[in-house]
Amino acid sequence: MKILFVCLGNICRSPLAEGVMKKMCAERGLDWEIDSAGLIDYHKGELPDPRMMTTAERHGYKLTHRSRPVKTADFEKFDYIIGMSDYINTRIVRDAPHVPFHAKIKNVAEFFIETEDYDEVPDPYCGTMIDFEIAVQLIEDACKGILQQLS
Ligand code: 4NP
Repeated sequence: MKILFVCLGNICRSPLAEGVMKKMCAERGLDWEIDSAGLIDYHKGELPDPRMMTTAERHGYKLTHRSRPVKTADFEKFDYIIGMSDYINTRIVRDAPHVPFHAKIKNVAEFFIETEDYDEVPDPYCGTMIDFEIAVQLIEDACKGILQQLS
């Protein structure tokens, strides 16, 4: 299984999702390929936002991904491309080169198990530390759902 998580800047939500998913796969002995990317390249080459790194570390996730934009080859390579919101997915679809690839594109909220009051992972970038904490809770829930649905 090959999964690409996508957000806007690839320095908060999607590198977190990559880190959480990788850890859960390792714990279960699953040899899945997990990566993340952003719609924009402003932060290309950067480690995740320090607020995201700190919050993730508190929950046991070490984030080492370097930001990169989505590239055309991603649509071919990955089995699932999981965006963090409808807004993100609308833009991914607009950029997807061929219609058949659209079936691979999912909203992270489709995988929530316990979460009821969110239909996306809200962008924490302009928020407070609580928003980074919420991102961890939502993404942990979604990654459990991904394992349930796809493994
Ligand atoms: P992310 O958060 O999409 O979760 O990585 C953002 C990071 C940077 C920006 C926006 C959102 N930005 O506009 O630079």
